[in-house]
Amino acid sequence: MTAAARRIESVVDAVGRTPLVRLRRVVTDSRAVSVYVKLECQNPGGSVKDRAGLRMIQRAIADGRLAPGKTLIDSTSGNTGVAYSLFGAALGVPVKLVMPSNVSQPRKDIARAFGTEIVYSDPMEGSDGAIRVAREIVAGAPDEYFYPDQYSNPDNPMAHYEGTGPELLEDLGDRLTHFVAGLGTTGTMMGTARRLHERSRAIRCVAVEPAEPMHGLEGLKHMATSLVPPIYDPKVHDEVASVTTEDGWDMADRLAALEGLHVGHSSGANVAVAVRLAEQLLAEGKEGCLVAIVADRGDRYFAPMKWEKRYVW
Ligand SMILES: Cc1ncc(COP(=O)(O)O)c(C=O)c1O
Repeated sequence: MTAAARRIESVVDAVGRTPLVRLRRVVTDSRAVSVYVKLECQNPGGSVKDRAGLRMIQRAIADGRLAPGKTLIDSTSGNTGVAYSLFGAALGVPVKLVMPSNVSQPRKDIARAFGTEIVYSDPMEGSDGAIRVAREIVAGAPDEYFYPDQYSNPDNPMAHYEGTGPELLEDLGDRLTHFVAGLGTTGTMMGTARRLHERSRAIRCVAVEPAEPMHGLEGLKHMATSLVPPIYDPKVHDEVASVTTEDGWDMADRLAALEGLHVGHSSGANVAVAVRLAEQLLAEGKEGCLVAIVADRGDRYFAPMKWEKRYVW
């Protein structure tokens, strides 16, 4: 596999086959231990959620849950919302997203750019309020809507079981020793880890979660204090590593300044864990080949600026 440009017939074919980049400066450069990042930000919607968003739509079209005339509705203003909007536009599926009215202007603009309709929910009720409004709309007209519900939709992890996992095995084969990814809906970790463990139980799958319940690592869940997604099975990964917001943000800055990779904060957290593990292996005189997921790019977090941020997206 190469990262070379190729001719494709539709933007949906641009999903996946993302590059693996070796880190050389944020971690001790050594022959024995290598750390790679998988650039999921290279997907057409700019994030790891393109894989799940596309699969949930395609499978629902294939089995009739998303019949012509139906609208896809969900309550995300984040990366999944971008994926729904993009693939909805490409596949002719109308998309409606419910967001608290105080989400940042760029979040609204990016969804609207694809023709998505936005329904605003009470800003005081945050993301739970948006979920409630989406469910009310669906309950009022069930035949008009397809509600993918990424937290319980098996096509979310399957996108990674059939995509991310095989790609890593194709690129690294038996060299791969560690896979590091954050837990949001948990789709990335569930699907990829299942596939990697089928190849070798010895590949260590490390889940990353924020150290604090109130954190600034967007996209990641602090499981102990969150609604646990139905697709999550804690037996699938081998270890959970926690990262402070500060360490995640710090590594995101270091990746930009030292590696030319301007990534989001959850990616900074994943890399912080991978680097920690790599340095441990080096100190113990062991060999390793680690991969951390880069879920999205840093420019998605330019607004609101840190000091303007008053809510969790
Ligand atoms: C920036 C970012 N990082 C990590 C994740 C977590 O991925 P998953 O939902 O597959 O667990 C998400 C999910 O929305 C995300 O947007």
